[in-house]
Amino acid sequence: MGVSNFTPAHLEVIIEATGVGPDVDQIQLSPYWTQQEARAYHLGHAIVTESYSPIGRGLELLGEPAVVAVAEAHGVTPAQAVLRWHTQQGLVAIPKSASPQRLVENLDVFSFDLTPEELAALDALNGTGPEAADPDKFGH
Ligand SMILES: NC(=O)c1ccc[n+]([C@@H]2O[C@H](COP(=O)([O-])OP(=O)(O)OC[C@H]3O[C@@H](n4cnc5c(N)ncnc54)[C@H](OP(=O)(O)O)[C@@H]3O)[C@@H](O)[C@H]2O)c1
Repeated sequence: MGVSNFTPAHLEVIIEATGVGPDVDQIQLSPYWTQQEARAYHLGHAIVTESYSPIGRGLELLGEPAVVAVAEAHGVTPAQAVLRWHTQQGLVAIPKSASPQRLVENLDVFSFDLTPEELAALDALNGTGPEAADPDKFGH
């Protein structure tokens, strides 16, 4: 069972009503919106966190100096640096691309690891980008 745009409060309602939680919750998650509260709730309830818009829709996030610096340090693209930030933390990222070349690029993110400092540098972008969608108003 999977849900999307469920906050911990929404998950509480269904778990309380049914005794069962979903296997996966797909939420908007990137270095701009790290969703620590939801991730902690998921971890405590055996729910997989799936990141949608994981590379910030391919917009400003990929030009952030912190992202570009990590990418340059590893000889990868900014999208790959951000996707490694997800996968290294156990997040399931679902980047969208209409380009076969970018599809290949976006899958090729398992041959390098970000350092703790690099992970922290991307975490520090939390809250600095465009506002995320509010699940109480959108997405169910
Ligand atoms: N559950 C929900 O409410 C919800 C809401 C929004 C999105 N989603 C899902 O989340 C998935 C992805 O989210 P998203 O499309 O919003 O954002 P995203 O995957 O973060 O970004 C997609 C954009 O990034 C570009 N891109 C892809 N790979 C790239 C690369 N390597 N370098 C530079 N640009 C790149 C794409 O352009 P090209 O196609 O030209 O490569 C596209 O414009 C989709 O499957 C979508 O259905 C779910």
